[in-house]
Amino acid sequence: MTGQNVGVPDNPATPFYVTTPIYYVNDVPHMGHAYTTIAADVLCRWRRMFGDDVYFLTGTDEHGLKIQRSAESQGVTPLEWADRTAVRFLEAWEELGITNTDFIRTSEPRHYAAVQKFLQVVYDNGFIEKGTYEGYYCVPCEAYYADDEAAGGACPIHDRPLEFVREDNYFFKLSAFEQPLLDYYEQNPQAVQPESRRNEVIGFIKQGLKDFSMSRTSISWGIPLPWDRDHVTYVWFDALFNYCTAVGYGVDDAEFDKWWPADYHLIGKDILRFHAVYWPAMLMAGGLPLPKCVFAHGWLLVGGEKMSKTKANQILPHDLIEEFGVDGYRYHFMADQRFGPDGDFSYEGMITRYNADLANNFGNLANRVLNMAMNYCDGVVPQERANGPLQTQAEAGFAGLESSLAKLDFASGFSTVWDLIRSTNAYIEDRAPWALFKSGDRVATAEVIGDCLEALRIVALLASPVIPTAASELWRRLGQSGTPGEQQLPDAARWGQLVPGNALEKGDPLFPRLEAKTQ
Ligand code: ME8
Ligand code: MG
Repeated sequence: MTGQNVGVPDNPATPFYVTTPIYYVNDVPHMGHAYTTIAADVLCRWRRMFGDDVYFLTGTDEHGLKIQRSAESQGVTPLEWADRTAVRFLEAWEELGITNTDFIRTSEPRHYAAVQKFLQVVYDNGFIEKGTYEGYYCVPCEAYYADDEAAGGACPIHDRPLEFVREDNYFFKLSAFEQPLLDYYEQNPQAVQPESRRNEVIGFIKQGLKDFSMSRTSISWGIPLPWDRDHVTYVWFDALFNYCTAVGYGVDDAEFDKWWPADYHLIGKDILRFHAVYWPAMLMAGGLPLPKCVFAHGWLLVGGEKMSKTKANQILPHDLIEEFGVDGYRYHFMADQRFGPDGDFSYEGMITRYNADLANNFGNLANRVLNMAMNYCDGVVPQERANGPLQTQAEAGFAGLESSLAKLDFASGFSTVWDLIRSTNAYIEDRAPWALFKSGDRVATAEVIGDCLEALRIVALLASPVIPTAASELWRRLGQSGTPGEQQLPDAARWGQLVPGNALEKGDPLFPRLEAKTQ
């Protein structure tokens, strides 16, 4: 397409590369997977509004013993099994309004080619050697555990017995990277966040790094080593490299250099060690730059416990979306807990928050202001503005959101946007436009309502990354063209851009109140 850049300044957009973990296909998408993916989506939508050129990657992790066993138990091939579940992830992300650029599956030919190319580089650089491994293995983790980590022969994460494994295989010389990693984290304190996670990583490295086995002969479902086809690549070694495969490693150097290193790898704290120890060491071994930031968030707990297939306490997004809508779902998880610490999910808490923040605050404000504009301003955006206190509140809302999202603090960021909603409601109470109207002061009435409509425009704009559907609908009802997500920040957040005379529409409640279902 030609002419698509008309009106856009000449300077090229800043590339912004965000990834989620690639999820195992032995499990269907649940609330935990959705959590990381929604956070990545909110961040990407936000950066696009600043004109960044965004690459947003998610996908599925399809190799390894865990998947091979799941497939066997279902009587299908691993690929058939992976095909089935990968579709479930695609569907879930579509249902949740996820705007990923790419969806990578580790069974794809592009990934085989990239991993084999990278492996050969690391091998030629002397960081892979043959040896024998004996030890305890956890299949759900796809990881070995040292004796001192596995109390009573059980996995510390899954709390179930480990398997004893003895294999001749290839080792990645992780020990060679102990000091380089410590130096790197010393010089790049932003590289692992939050800070508590960074300290955890540094503490782990300081205890000493052992070489790890990076190939398997016991299974066939994986990527063969290019120099020894009897071995397949250890699933984590293969999986981590997805982040490079997707942006053209080994195929398109210009593309790869444009996107790599990633700006953010968003992950849960369960896979921090792989991302903040193994992964940077692998990249160093292959002579590649390291990701700018690995951000490990906490767990979503259900009744105080981590969701897991083995504990059968998983909650599927679809069930909650039916009740709360996509926006209601997205909003809850971004607002309810800080992105970092653990948080406990409760259905009752979700109902309460929905009714308070979305039905009462957001929805009622929209309804109230549009209703008054219908009754007192002939259903159009009035010419008059008071440019009163809401202007300052709107500026504070934008500044607060911007600084919080720069730290991935979604909950604080959106709470400053909701402060603007609360201020607008308070302003209406204070100025009582119905009384102004009754007294016959049409100019003063229009000024107050003009300010409230303008505040609503800015609310729709700033809330759009988290509640894109309702924000777009509000935008439309305000007589604006396009969608809030298409606007350019910071310009679009400047006060006073509603077009006088544009027709308004009241519409139905954006977030109808919900009653808790008794289960
Ligand atoms: O670990 N709370 O895949 P996985 C918050 N394939 N986040 C949760 C969660 C919870 N209760 N449960 C899952 C793997 N997550 C590997 C990753 S990456 C190269 C390979 C999210 O299917 C969170 O992001 O077990 C966590 O890190 C991820 O899902 C684990 O997904
Ligand atoms: Mg897991």
